[in-house]
Amino acid sequence: MTIQHSKINDFFATHIKRGSDGREYQPDGCSIRLDEALELQKLITEFRPTHTMEIGLALGASAIAISESLEQCGTAVKHVVLDPFQSQYGDVGLRELERLGLRHRVEFLEVFSYDFLYDCSKRGRRFDLIFNDGGHSIGIKVTDAFLSDQCLTAGGLIAFHDAFMFSVTAAVKYLVKNQGYEVIKLIPDSRLKRWLRVIKYGTVYGWWYGNRVVPFTARSLVVLRKPS
Ligand SMILES: C[S@@+](CC[C@H](N)C(=O)[O-])C[C@H]1O[C@@H](n2cnc3c(N)ncnc32)[C@H](O)[C@@H]1O
Repeated sequence: MTIQHSKINDFFATHIKRGSDGREYQPDGCSIRLDEALELQKLITEFRPTHTMEIGLALGASAIAISESLEQCGTAVKHVVLDPFQSQYGDVGLRELERLGLRHRVEFLEVFSYDFLYDCSKRGRRFDLIFNDGGHSIGIKVTDAFLSDQCLTAGGLIAFHDAFMFSVTAAVKYLVKNQGYEVIKLIPDSRLKRWLRVIKYGTVYGWWYGNRVVPFTARSLVVLRKPS
Protein backbone atom coordinates (compact mmCIF):
# COMPACT_ATOMS: atom_id res chain seq x y z
CA MET A 1 0.00 0.00 0.00
CA THR A 2 1.38 3.41 -0.95
CA ILE A 3 0.69 6.03 1.69
CA GLN A 4 0.65 9.73 0.81
CA HIS A 5 1.29 11.82 3.93
CA SER A 6 -0.34 14.82 2.33
CA LYS A 7 -2.14 16.35 5.31
CA ILE A 8 0.89 16.44 7.55
CA ASN A 9 2.92 17.98 4.72
CA ASP A 10 0.16 20.54 4.31
CA PHE A 11 0.37 21.37 8.05
CA PHE A 12 4.13 22.02 7.81
CA ALA A 13 3.81 23.98 4.56
CA THR A 14 2.65 27.06 6.50
CA HIS A 15 5.08 28.28 9.16
CA ILE A 16 2.69 30.70 10.81
CA LYS A 17 -0.76 29.72 12.06
CA ARG A 18 -3.47 32.25 12.90
CA GLY A 19 -5.38 31.53 16.14
CA SER A 20 -9.02 32.26 17.00
CA ASP A 21 -7.65 35.11 19.14
CA GLY A 22 -6.10 36.74 16.05
CA ARG A 23 -2.55 36.00 17.21
CA GLU A 24 0.16 34.18 15.23
CA TYR A 25 1.57 30.82 16.37
CA GLN A 26 4.61 28.99 14.99
CA PRO A 27 5.15 25.20 15.05
CA ASP A 28 8.93 25.78 15.22
CA GLY A 29 10.02 25.20 18.81
CA CYS A 30 6.56 24.04 19.93
CA SER A 31 5.40 21.17 17.75
CA ILE A 32 7.06 17.92 16.78
CA ARG A 33 9.02 18.23 13.53
CA LEU A 34 8.02 16.84 10.15
CA ASP A 35 10.49 13.93 10.28
CA GLU A 36 9.22 12.98 13.76
CA ALA A 37 5.64 13.18 12.50
CA LEU A 38 6.53 10.84 9.64
CA GLU A 39 8.15 8.41 12.11
CA LEU A 40 4.91 8.40 14.13
CA GLN A 41 2.98 7.67 10.95
CA LYS A 42 5.33 4.78 10.06
CA LEU A 43 4.82 3.37 13.53
CA ILE A 44 1.03 3.40 13.10
CA THR A 45 1.24 1.83 9.66
CA GLU A 46 3.47 -0.92 11.05
CA PHE A 47 1.80 -1.65 14.42
CA ARG A 48 -1.83 -0.85 13.47
CA PRO A 49 -3.06 0.36 16.88
CA THR A 50 -6.84 0.68 17.25
CA HIS A 51 -7.25 2.66 20.47
CA THR A 52 -4.90 5.66 20.52
CA MET A 53 -4.43 8.64 22.80
CA GLU A 54 -2.14 11.63 22.97
CA ILE A 55 -1.30 14.20 25.62
CA GLY A 56 -0.73 17.80 24.44
CA LEU A 57 -2.59 19.14 21.36
CA ALA A 58 -1.08 22.68 21.18
CA LEU A 59 -0.74 23.46 17.43
CA GLY A 60 -1.81 19.96 16.39
CA ALA A 61 1.16 18.56 14.44
CA SER A 62 1.22 15.22 16.24
CA ALA A 63 -2.59 14.91 16.32
CA ILE A 64 -2.71 15.50 12.54
CA ALA A 65 0.08 12.96 11.91
CA ILE A 66 -1.60 10.30 14.05
CA SER A 67 -5.18 10.85 12.90
CA GLU A 68 -4.17 11.01 9.24
CA SER A 69 -2.38 7.68 9.56
CA LEU A 70 -5.30 6.09 11.41
CA GLU A 71 -7.61 7.26 8.63
CA GLN A 72 -5.33 5.75 5.99
CA CYS A 73 -5.25 2.47 7.93
CA GLY A 74 -9.06 2.44 8.00
CA THR A 75 -9.31 2.66 11.80
CA ALA A 76 -12.85 3.68 12.78
CA VAL A 77 -12.14 4.50 16.43
CA LYS A 78 -11.48 8.19 17.20
CA HIS A 79 -8.03 9.29 18.35
CA VAL A 80 -8.31 10.73 21.90
CA VAL A 81 -6.44 14.02 22.38
CA LEU A 82 -6.03 15.78 25.75
CA ASP A 83 -5.15 19.41 26.42
CA PRO A 84 -6.59 21.65 29.12
CA PHE A 85 -4.86 24.72 27.65
CA GLN A 86 -5.91 24.64 23.97
CA SER A 87 -7.44 28.13 24.23
CA GLN A 88 -3.99 29.48 25.20
CA TYR A 89 -2.81 28.33 21.74
CA GLY A 90 -5.65 30.21 19.98
CA ASP A 91 -7.37 26.84 19.34
CA VAL A 92 -4.84 26.35 16.54
CA GLY A 93 -4.69 22.55 16.98
CA LEU A 94 -8.47 22.23 16.61
CA ARG A 95 -8.55 24.74 13.73
CA GLU A 96 -5.84 22.86 11.84
CA LEU A 97 -7.63 19.53 12.36
CA GLU A 98 -10.78 21.15 10.96
CA ARG A 99 -8.96 22.75 8.02
CA LEU A 100 -7.38 19.43 7.05
CA GLY A 101 -10.63 17.45 7.33
CA LEU A 102 -9.52 15.44 10.36
CA ARG A 103 -11.57 17.00 13.18
CA HIS A 104 -14.17 14.19 13.05
CA ARG A 105 -11.39 11.64 13.60
CA VAL A 106 -10.47 13.13 17.00
CA GLU A 107 -12.13 13.04 20.43
CA PHE A 108 -10.75 16.19 22.07
CA LEU A 109 -10.93 16.53 25.86
CA GLU A 110 -9.91 19.64 27.82
CA VAL A 111 -8.61 17.63 30.77
CA PHE A 112 -5.32 17.02 32.55
CA SER A 113 -3.48 13.85 31.56
CA TYR A 114 -3.17 12.47 35.09
CA ASP A 115 -6.93 12.92 35.80
CA PHE A 116 -7.88 11.20 32.55
CA LEU A 117 -5.37 8.37 32.95
CA TYR A 118 -6.31 7.74 36.56
CA ASP A 119 -9.95 7.52 35.52
CA CYS A 120 -9.09 5.12 32.67
CA SER A 121 -7.02 2.94 34.97
CA LYS A 122 -9.95 2.67 37.41
CA ARG A 123 -12.52 1.98 34.66
CA GLY A 124 -10.31 -0.47 32.75
CA ARG A 125 -10.12 1.69 29.59
CA ARG A 126 -7.08 0.62 27.55
CA PHE A 127 -5.02 2.06 24.65
CA ASP A 128 -2.72 0.41 22.12
CA LEU A 129 -0.72 3.60 21.59
CA ILE A 130 -0.12 6.62 23.83
CA PHE A 131 1.86 9.61 22.59
CA ASN A 132 3.11 11.90 25.37
CA ASP A 133 4.05 15.50 24.53
CA GLY A 134 2.24 17.15 27.44
CA GLY A 135 3.53 18.59 30.69
CA HIS A 136 7.33 18.35 30.91
CA SER A 137 7.94 18.64 34.64
CA ILE A 138 9.42 15.56 36.30
CA GLY A 139 6.31 15.14 38.45
CA ILE A 140 3.87 15.19 35.52
CA LYS A 141 6.02 13.11 33.17
CA VAL A 142 6.70 10.33 35.65
CA THR A 143 3.09 10.34 36.90
CA ASP A 144 1.87 10.13 33.28
CA ALA A 145 4.29 7.23 32.63
CA PHE A 146 3.15 5.38 35.76
CA LEU A 147 -0.55 5.77 34.90
CA SER A 148 -0.05 5.17 31.16
CA ASP A 149 1.55 1.83 31.98
CA GLN A 150 -1.71 0.83 33.68
CA CYS A 151 -3.74 1.93 30.65
CA LEU A 152 -1.65 0.33 27.87
CA THR A 153 -2.60 -3.01 26.38
CA ALA A 154 0.01 -5.78 26.51
CA GLY A 155 2.40 -5.18 23.60
CA GLY A 156 1.14 -1.58 23.34
CA LEU A 157 3.36 1.38 22.47
CA ILE A 158 4.19 4.54 24.38
CA ALA A 159 6.00 7.33 22.55
CA PHE A 160 7.56 10.43 24.11
CA HIS A 161 8.68 13.64 22.48
CA ASP A 162 11.72 15.42 23.98
CA ALA A 163 13.69 12.24 24.68
CA PHE A 164 16.61 14.33 25.98
CA MET A 165 14.75 16.23 28.68
CA PHE A 166 15.50 15.03 32.20
CA SER A 167 11.82 14.32 32.92
CA VAL A 168 11.51 12.06 29.86
CA THR A 169 14.71 10.18 30.72
CA ALA A 170 13.23 9.50 34.20
CA ALA A 171 9.95 8.24 32.71
CA VAL A 172 11.80 6.04 30.18
CA LYS A 173 14.07 4.60 32.87
CA TYR A 174 11.04 3.71 34.99
CA LEU A 175 9.26 1.94 32.12
CA VAL A 176 12.32 0.06 30.82
CA LYS A 177 14.13 -0.79 34.05
CA ASN A 178 11.14 -1.40 36.35
CA GLN A 179 8.40 -2.43 33.97
CA GLY A 180 10.39 -4.35 31.33
CA TYR A 181 9.51 -2.20 28.30
CA GLU A 182 11.57 -2.61 25.12
CA VAL A 183 13.02 0.40 23.29
CA ILE A 184 11.84 0.37 19.66
CA LYS A 185 14.54 1.10 17.09
CA LEU A 186 13.66 4.20 15.05
CA ILE A 187 15.51 5.63 12.06
CA PRO A 188 17.72 8.56 13.16
CA ASP A 189 17.76 11.83 11.20
CA SER A 190 21.49 11.26 10.57
CA ARG A 191 24.05 8.65 11.67
CA LEU A 192 26.56 11.29 12.68
CA LYS A 193 24.00 13.14 14.81
CA ARG A 194 22.99 9.87 16.41
CA TRP A 195 26.53 9.20 17.66
CA LEU A 196 27.09 12.79 18.68
CA ARG A 197 23.90 12.54 20.78
CA VAL A 198 25.11 9.28 22.34
CA ILE A 199 28.24 11.08 23.53
CA LYS A 200 26.45 14.23 24.61
CA TYR A 201 23.52 12.63 26.46
CA GLY A 202 25.52 9.63 27.70
CA THR A 203 27.74 12.15 29.45
CA VAL A 204 24.77 14.09 30.83
CA TYR A 205 22.37 11.27 31.76
CA GLY A 206 24.73 8.30 32.18
CA TRP A 207 25.83 5.53 29.80
CA TRP A 208 22.80 3.32 30.39
CA TYR A 209 20.63 6.00 28.72
CA GLY A 210 23.42 6.85 26.27
CA ASN A 211 23.80 3.28 25.02
CA ARG A 212 20.38 1.71 25.56
CA VAL A 213 18.04 4.53 24.53
CA VAL A 214 19.74 7.39 22.63
CA PRO A 215 20.82 5.33 19.56
CA PHE A 216 17.21 4.24 18.99
CA THR A 217 15.64 7.70 18.95
CA ALA A 218 14.49 9.56 15.83
CA ARG A 219 15.61 13.14 16.50
CA SER A 220 13.91 13.56 19.92
CA LEU A 221 11.25 10.88 19.58
CA VAL A 222 11.56 7.74 21.72
CA VAL A 223 9.17 4.79 21.54
CA LEU A 224 8.79 1.92 24.01
CA ARG A 225 6.82 -1.31 23.80
CA LYS A 226 5.09 -2.87 26.78
CA PRO A 227 5.86 -6.56 27.30
CA SER A 228 3.12 -8.79 25.91
C1 LIG B 1 4.83 20.88 23.40
S1 LIG B 1 3.13 21.20 23.38
C2 LIG B 1 2.49 19.88 22.37
C3 LIG B 1 2.83 20.04 20.89
C4 LIG B 1 2.01 19.14 19.99
N1 LIG B 1 2.29 17.75 20.24
C5 LIG B 1 2.31 19.46 18.52
O1 LIG B 1 2.94 18.64 17.84
O2 LIG B 1 1.89 20.55 18.08
C6 LIG B 1 2.63 20.69 24.98
C7 LIG B 1 1.11 20.78 25.24
O3 LIG B 1 0.80 20.00 26.39
C8 LIG B 1 -0.24 20.62 27.08
N2 LIG B 1 -0.21 20.13 28.46
C9 LIG B 1 0.59 20.52 29.47
N3 LIG B 1 0.34 19.80 30.58
C10 LIG B 1 -0.66 18.92 30.25
C11 LIG B 1 -1.35 17.91 30.96
N4 LIG B 1 -1.07 17.62 32.23
N5 LIG B 1 -2.31 17.20 30.31
C12 LIG B 1 -2.59 17.45 29.01
N6 LIG B 1 -1.96 18.40 28.29
C13 LIG B 1 -1.01 19.12 28.90
C14 LIG B 1 0.04 22.12 26.92
O4 LIG B 1 -1.15 22.87 27.06
C15 LIG B 1 0.61 22.19 25.51
O5 LIG B 1 -0.42 22.49 24.60
